[in-house]
Amino acid sequence: MSGHDHQSRIGELLGRMTVEEKLGQLQQLAWAWDTGPGGGDTAAAEAAARKGLLGSVLNVVGAGASNALQCIAVEESRLGIPLVFGLDVIHGYHTTFPIPLAQAAAFDPAVTETDAEVSAREARSNGIHWTFSPMMDVTREPRWGRIAESTGEDPYLTTAYAVAKVRGYQGDDLTAPDRIAACAKHFVAYGGAEGGRDYNSVDVSEQRLRNLYLPPFRAAVDAGAATVMAAFNTISGVPAHANPHTLTGILKEAWGFDGVVVSDWTGVLELIAHGGASDEAEAARRSLTAGVDMEMVSTTFVDHGRDLLASRALDPERLDDAVARVLRLKLRLGLFERPYVTETAALTAPSAESRAAAREVAGRCLVLLKNDDDVLPLAGPAPRALAVVGPFADSGDLLGTWTLPGAPEAVPVLAGLRAALPDTEIRHAAGVSSQGLDTAGIAEAVAVAEAADAVVLVVGEPPAISGEAAVRSELGLPGAQEELIAAVAGTGKPCAVVLVGGRPLTIGGWADQVAAIVMAWHPGIEAGSAVADVLTGAVVPGGKLPVTFPRAVGQVPLYYNHERTGRPYDPAAPEVKYVSKYLDIADGPEFAFGHGLSYTTFSLGEPQLSRERITVAELLEDVTVEVTVPVRNTGAREGEEVVQLYVQDPAATLTQPVRRLCGFRRVRLAAGEERQVRFTVGADDFGYWSNDPAGVFIVEPGEIHIHTGGSSRTQARRTLLIT
Ligand code: NOJ
Repeated sequence: MSGHDHQSRIGELLGRMTVEEKLGQLQQLAWAWDTGPGGGDTAAAEAAARKGLLGSVLNVVGAGASNALQCIAVEESRLGIPLVFGLDVIHGYHTTFPIPLAQAAAFDPAVTETDAEVSAREARSNGIHWTFSPMMDVTREPRWGRIAESTGEDPYLTTAYAVAKVRGYQGDDLTAPDRIAACAKHFVAYGGAEGGRDYNSVDVSEQRLRNLYLPPFRAAVDAGAATVMAAFNTISGVPAHANPHTLTGILKEAWGFDGVVVSDWTGVLELIAHGGASDEAEAARRSLTAGVDMEMVSTTFVDHGRDLLASRALDPERLDDAVARVLRLKLRLGLFERPYVTETAALTAPSAESRAAAREVAGRCLVLLKNDDDVLPLAGPAPRALAVVGPFADSGDLLGTWTLPGAPEAVPVLAGLRAALPDTEIRHAAGVSSQGLDTAGIAEAVAVAEAADAVVLVVGEPPAISGEAAVRSELGLPGAQEELIAAVAGTGKPCAVVLVGGRPLTIGGWADQVAAIVMAWHPGIEAGSAVADVLTGAVVPGGKLPVTFPRAVGQVPLYYNHERTGRPYDPAAPEVKYVSKYLDIADGPEFAFGHGLSYTTFSLGEPQLSRERITVAELLEDVTVEVTVPVRNTGAREGEEVVQLYVQDPAATLTQPVRRLCGFRRVRLAAGEERQVRFTVGADDFGYWSNDPAGVFIVEPGEIHIHTGGSSRTQARRTLLIT
């Protein structure tokens, strides 16, 4: 897939195309399934395809529909250039895996590779060539609904997931019948939306852009991501869709990206609303010139491209370059040779194997937040009578944001527990609805709890209030759910909460009332089975939080890798006044990044370094340092620990985060087993990008502190000296 492949074919095609046909290749229209602002007109897509004035269509569902539309482009247009079909296959096509934020909690990129492989197979068999995934927007904003689609607040973790997902979708041959092109999105800094309000402005320093937001994109491009999507936000005043610095300077020139930059949905036209263009022609000119290659849904490129060329406002070479990129994508996908799919081979439902994969992945994503008195697991022995209460206990609405129309519902937790505990008498009451204020059902839930030996409470937020444009100003449980918890916990029965949601929730109001809390996120199609696996101990939980859980929404943004202040809060001296703290709330998060318990316990020893000094020159020649950490399972059963390595530069020209994740490994250990976990760290981990817009990476002499442990709160530390 080198940049020089297909060059002669592209040149030959370009030579035969009219200006209109070239502009047409840059147009992506929506099929009628989605009727969002400005889009979803199947007839318009068919007419444009027939004239050879269309490059791509999104949201076509089904092999028959994609073949029919493709046939128009291939058989009826003058040049017969095939269409490329795109779709938001975010965490599954038929087989819905846990939401991406949940997958990040596994601290195991293999889970996302599995999702991507299953998704690619199902999607491609239905005529989809291209997914608008993975989303790799690092974010510190739990109010932002799209945190559910992200892999959390950490650039290192996000990078590992981005690379794994690109690999899972694309494999090493995009022509294969079970692979699809990936799209690294949203370029860039979308996760920084002020106040968490979707589409909002982002004012970001160059160093933060390069250290926080860009690394996953760089890695995805290096891993071969075929396409990139521009973001809806401004970047320090310049809309991302009209930003030559990021789209051309960094992405295409510095990184050598030769794939397609697609706009987001009407993102080019929105330059007018952004205050970045006075009319459609200006929007088209700014966006194309900055480096957008394909326009999604709005039509400013095709409507104004010819005039822009005629008035020399648009460089014809830029147009040819954009067209070449679109043709290259189609050639890489093998669409000229195989434009159609075999309709009889289309996968129309999840297979038993893909369901099994989704169940295993979901089990790995669950995070045990607390477990007083080892109230979990439930089996050992299983309770005689179990109450399963709460608005999500018997709900199939656990798939999460971004599911396809017709995707099968999730297995409810109640069904999962009934299957897992056949000898237990299980009774259910919802108590309250997920968002309503009616508390009349609480009495029944209390009665069910009183008659049981233990209670599982399934509460949280529904998928409908997470995802795009689903921003919340409060992060507590919606409706009357907290009242339900208080009443049921008041019975004195041991209570385990299964918390569902697409974001960190504030749970300080009730966390103390219950013995155990399992963060289940939106676990996907096998939700209930996976939750039952963990509650009964068939699967030992090993997930960790990929994002900080604040105590209160007023602390947001609250994240582990914050910069140092001159007046840090010292927990040993809480009375000191002039420090960085809140007066009215305990310091720090409810649960820290990297936190997560198990049904067994682990002890991690002091890290050992392969050397204690290294020179800047050695680091710049890629000499590395090995860090070894002993980890032992000190409990009575097998389990998995995520060993985490953090780096801190305590004295740098640019103030550095108090710690930064630079390595993690999820290891399985038998009871009593001890293992050495090894990490390799080097210049990438010790240095940082400066504020120079030209892109300057700095490695400075001085101390580097290396911390290891089972969460971001770890204390174990060694010092490396860079000279
Ligand atoms: C808007 C979203 O921001 C983007 O992520 C998605 O791919 C497009 N809509 C297409 O549905």
